[in-house]
Amino acid sequence: MTYGEKMEPYTITPKVDETQEFIEIANDFSNPLDLVREAISNAYDADATEIRVIFDVVKQYGESVLKIVLADNGTGMSGDQLQNFFDLGNSTRRGNDAAIGEKGHGTKVYFNSRRIEVKTSTGDNGFQAVMDEPFRKLFDRQIPTVQVTPQSAIPKGTEITIYGYNNNRRDKFTHQILKDYINWFTKHGSIDKHFDTEIKGVKLLLQGLGSNDLEQIDQGHFFPEDSKNINQLLDEHMVKAPDYYSKKIIKTGFLKNFPEITYEAIFSLEGKYVRYGYNAMLRRPGYTAPEGAYTIQERYGLWVCKDYMPIQRKNEWITFKGSEYTKFHAFINCQDLRLTANRGSVDNTPTEILQDLKEEVRKIYDGIVKGDEWTSMEWLEEEAQAYQTVDKEKKNFDWRINKVNRANIAVHKGVTLVEPERESGVFSLFLILSQLEEGLFPFYVVDYDTHEGIDVIAKGDRNTPISSAKLFYVEFKRTLSKGFNHSFENIHSIVCWDTDIKHDEILKDINSEERKMQIISPDAKDDYTRYFLDNPKKAHKIEVFCLNSYLKERLDLSFNPRSSKSVI
Ligand SMILES: Nc1ncnc2c1ncn2[C@@H]1O[C@H](COP(=O)(O)OP(=O)(O)OP(=O)(O)O)[C@@H](O)[C@H]1O
Ligand SMILES: [Mg+2]
Repeated sequence: MTYGEKMEPYTITPKVDETQEFIEIANDFSNPLDLVREAISNAYDADATEIRVIFDVVKQYGESVLKIVLADNGTGMSGDQLQNFFDLGNSTRRGNDAAIGEKGHGTKVYFNSRRIEVKTSTGDNGFQAVMDEPFRKLFDRQIPTVQVTPQSAIPKGTEITIYGYNNNRRDKFTHQILKDYINWFTKHGSIDKHFDTEIKGVKLLLQGLGSNDLEQIDQGHFFPEDSKNINQLLDEHMVKAPDYYSKKIIKTGFLKNFPEITYEAIFSLEGKYVRYGYNAMLRRPGYTAPEGAYTIQERYGLWVCKDYMPIQRKNEWITFKGSEYTKFHAFINCQDLRLTANRGSVDNTPTEILQDLKEEVRKIYDGIVKGDEWTSMEWLEEEAQAYQTVDKEKKNFDWRINKVNRANIAVHKGVTLVEPERESGVFSLFLILSQLEEGLFPFYVVDYDTHEGIDVIAKGDRNTPISSAKLFYVEFKRTLSKGFNHSFENIHSIVCWDTDIKHDEILKDINSEERKMQIISPDAKDDYTRYFLDNPKKAHKIEVFCLNSYLKERLDLSFNPRSSKSVI
């Protein structure tokens, strides 16, 4: 069309690319555990009094497939509601203030799977619905359809079964991780029972991966009881008293510039031993925490909530110096917050509202830190810290001296070698020996990294230029045992002090590659006992240098206690 040519006015009706929107929403949930939150919210919205959440791995055509069952005895779905279940953006709950659901997005997280089966009944009418290959179809740019069969014999409620969720990745769905997630981030672990005495009882039964039974999960987020008074704590725990302190402050109110907007807050101040007492997922020294465990810094602080469930942490609202936020286990709820589509953030809320809420937080905080108890605890903490640093250093030094006296040593070519107690000791021993004995190890180190344990990049011979040489990993371990935390891929050798793996025993790497330990006795006089990790399908046998026996056999070195006359 040339300029000046007459054009008729016309209308644009914006369209949506439906498949793309389904893909966006199904993938927008950043944490795979969000599925559990959405399912529990929907069951609460359906007035369920019993919910079951079961994760399992089943074999289908020889393949391991993640199977999730989400069942509740709520109202069930009518035909229209079942349509909403699969629709994007159609919510039966919209306009119902008492309900959590509003967007019609939640169940779309289930689309990130291979198959969704729904059995639901309102008590009168029942349906069985199946959606096959939702994830694959969306990526082929088709809207997955649902086969629905009306059925009368289904009990009232809803049972959803999902196969192959999240590409079958299962590491996040252990029983412990799920239980912790439910206690913290779902409606079943919400804080409303602290503000409303008429909360309906809901029984939730969970079975996560690695558990053989259903466990009933307590309703409502847990806060510890207040501790005894400060003087009693001091008598019992002395400088550790702050770690045993706990106190809960509950506050409700409204926003200064928006008096119609109310909030509810619980600020629980907790010492670390109080937390260790009720939270099994907290990492701490001397305790093997379950997979998925976290630190106090990672989990505690101030959480902003909607529907009485934490959405986002705002530690900067209560941090005025250092990492003070870690003392708080604080939640503030406001029903006027606007959440992003994936419920991951409150940042859709008008800034004036967030600003006002922050001011309320500040007031609660000030009230707490100006109190007498806080001041005494702070004083005590400072004292304790001063005491601890002196005490710790002294203990550490004593321990090191003791260790020096205990260590086994050997002398080789005039150099004293110390029997290693850790990976770093093995590495030092290796470095010294490879300088003293050319050719003792069949590789040459070209790069070190001690970021996650010690491993080095090595090449197989001295003369090939690095640019054309094949490079490998060499791993260092104090004791090579089962539970190998690397992949065998690209490993040339392992250097360790000793190993507790026996001949013919299987060692698995992080990719589940299996290798068999082969211990081969020397057949010639100048040979040595060889340790190999063998996989018949792979050309390269990984040689394990167990320095304890290797040095004895190759260099005739044995490690003995330092004598009282030893000078180095
Ligand atoms: N367990 C259930 N029992 C009864 N109805 C359900 C259940 N789960 C989902 N539904 C129905 O499916 C619809 C869609 O669920 P979905 O979670 O996608 O949206 P929502 O809950 O309405 O809103 P939101 O996106 O905020 O979660 C709901 O409105 C409800 O009618
Ligand atoms: Mg929902």
